[in-house]
Amino acid sequence: MAAADHSPAGQLIQTRHRAALVASWDIAPGSTVLELGCGQGDTTAVLAEAVGPGGRVVAVDPADPSYGSPVTLGESADRLVAGPLGSRIDFRFRTDVLDPSVDFPDGAFDHVVLAHCSWYFASLALLRDTLARVRPWARRLWFTEWDLTPTSGDQTAHLLAVLIQGQIEAAGSPGVGNVRTPFSREELLRLLPGTGWRAEGGGPVDTGALQDGDWEVAACLDLVGSPERMASLPEPVRRLVLSQADVLRAVAVERGNRPLAGYTVTAR
Ligand SMILES: C[S@@+](CC[C@H](N)C(=O)[O-])C[C@H]1O[C@@H](n2cnc3c(N)ncnc32)[C@H](O)[C@@H]1O
Repeated sequence: MAAADHSPAGQLIQTRHRAALVASWDIAPGSTVLELGCGQGDTTAVLAEAVGPGGRVVAVDPADPSYGSPVTLGESADRLVAGPLGSRIDFRFRTDVLDPSVDFPDGAFDHVVLAHCSWYFASLALLRDTLARVRPWARRLWFTEWDLTPTSGDQTAHLLAVLIQGQIEAAGSPGVGNVRTPFSREELLRLLPGTGWRAEGGGPVDTGALQDGDWEVAACLDLVGSPERMASLPEPVRRLVLSQADVLRAVAVERGNRPLAGYTVTAR
């Protein structure tokens, strides 16, 4: 992964997490996979390894290839495609499956995967429509996201960081890039039946080694420090956000904020 040039240890942690996830899923060699919200391709690479030389991963993302830091989506994809897994991957950026020009035959894929991308969607309605749109294209859904419900007090900083970002977005100050629509596992389970998918399993995912707690605290405090984004909030919401940011500063530690756990849901 190109991001390993910046932080080899950090990339290893992220890739190990995704390797453990995909190993717990039933993705056989030779499978075809549609991955939504592939970003820099951290999960794409692991999926490409799982499907083997006879399989194929179509990895889509609505973002421009110039999006992302410290490595853009385009730079990361170029590196992956030039490597040994490249022939199994078809990256398609600036691609939103809700665009009517994006279409696949029914049953074109064995699996559709969403890995740590659903909180980046602009709304739950968009996620619902997206899940419904891909339903005819694949037999099975594998969905993984952070679990909003903390299991211990030292996850409070990560929880607050995502809730504050979600409130800023929900109150009408839309951004791009960071968490936009955090929601609970229960909310996903309520939403799935209306999309044509039937949840059939899943469970908790260990995220203890991941650095995302620290990253989200930093992203949230940056956002709260942005006068433009804060100015566009209604006064009562701004006050609520600022108070929660005070709590976040008080409970967050410099480094090592324990991340929320993750969960997987699989559906047919
Ligand atoms: C955290 S990043 C990439 C996560 C990646 N799947 C992984 O495992 O590392 C989340 C991605 O979700 C994408 N995203 C945002 N809205 C989306 C949508 N409506 N449909 C699909 N992807 C979306 C963003 O462009 C971003 O690249």
